[in-house]
Amino acid sequence: MSNFKEYKKVLWPTTRQEFEILEAKGAYLTVRTAKKTLKEVIDASSQVGTAPLGHRPPELLELMRQYYSDNDSRPIMTAGQEHYHPYQLELAKKFTEIFPGNMKMGDLKVFYCNSGSEAVERGCLKAAQLYRGGGSYISFLNAFHGRTSLALSMNFSKGVHKQGYNFLARTLPIPYPAKSSFPFNIAEEDLAKEVISYLNQVILRESPSNINSVIIEPIQGEGGYIVPHKDFFPMLREVCDKYDIPLIADEIQSSLRTGHWFAIENFKVKPDMISVAKAFSGGFSAFGAALIDSKYSPNEEGHMSNTFGGSPKDCFLVLNTIELIEKNNYLKNAKKEGDFILKGIKNLENKKIVKEVRGMGLMFGIEIQNKKGKPDPKMRDKILNDLLIKQGILTYGCGNDLFNPSIRFLLPLNIKREISERIVNSLNAIIR
Ligand SMILES: Cc1ncc(COP(=O)(O)O)c(C=O)c1O
Repeated sequence: MSNFKEYKKVLWPTTRQEFEILEAKGAYLTVRTAKKTLKEVIDASSQVGTAPLGHRPPELLELMRQYYSDNDSRPIMTAGQEHYHPYQLELAKKFTEIFPGNMKMGDLKVFYCNSGSEAVERGCLKAAQLYRGGGSYISFLNAFHGRTSLALSMNFSKGVHKQGYNFLARTLPIPYPAKSSFPFNIAEEDLAKEVISYLNQVILRESPSNINSVIIEPIQGEGGYIVPHKDFFPMLREVCDKYDIPLIADEIQSSLRTGHWFAIENFKVKPDMISVAKAFSGGFSAFGAALIDSKYSPNEEGHMSNTFGGSPKDCFLVLNTIELIEKNNYLKNAKKEGDFILKGIKNLENKKIVKEVRGMGLMFGIEIQNKKGKPDPKMRDKILNDLLIKQGILTYGCGNDLFNPSIRFLLPLNIKREISERIVNSLNAIIR
């Protein structure tokens, strides 16, 4: 059995749990820990959100087999920006169709890229900067928007992400409007209103013309799977409209899971830009995109470009992933199964070590505390370990150890009831 010493010699540490993934098929993984090999482990994070239809989904596999076969001549090349290809066009039309707010052909521009950070930084933030002529950014406490320089400057989730790092931007953090993570004691009904009042004050003191954009996760991911107050987004939209500040919804983690294409649709708001990555290529490719209202799109040649973004095979994959989701009503399934699981685990809030169970659809988290009501990251890690070893469920932590250590679930959209039941039963068994 491996003790992972060799990995540690050549790779940066990224996770506290140590294991290898040896096999991945459907909802299941074969996982090797330091002590044993575990089979039929449920992948309850869909590989950090990247495998929305489970692993090796047969329909996509078959389409890619055809694409890569000897008697096919469609371009396999990875370059995407120095030429047009019909799949780029078809996919951009599809994104226009699913973007909130009944967009028509030409209302939306798509910047294709290869990661979430790139979609945020070189897509949305850059377009906002060009439109507004620079200035300060507004982001939120607990936010995570990526690890490249400018995207990282938007983060307020974990200190370690920024340690020893010189920021590229002046970013003003606003408290995220959710009771459980709010830094002050405030009544639930006042939350949205008070955050908006604070935001207005920050904008006015900074000068509205000096605000570049507002970037926000419609449900926070890395920061703790936090759902905002239901009244907040329409009010935020009004503020952005008042000052003509672009509103960026970072949906890299929250898209597809909540019963809609984008989580922000739950709040009936149309953002100006949406960043996507992770799930859209069905687990086959590192695909990202910035979906940008044409109002904000720079038109000069070469302004928004890269090498790999929008390659024909990636656009083909994403198109087919979206079509499979539509054809099989998987968004509806995500809502149905998510509601079932949340109902089955909400009772865990009666246990002293659970501060909150929260989420929407198949994106949900559990915040862990000790018996005195203080954050308990060690207990969170023990639960994660027990889930894996005793119940065969693999998932990861999220949230800040000092404030809101949590467990995250981001399940595949095509999940069947038997898996949902296993998740509910296992969580109830472990967090007794
Ligand atoms: C909301 C959000 N934004 C941005 C990113 C960064 O994406 P990537 O790691 O692909 O650069 C992530 C990754 O977890 C994310 O969850």
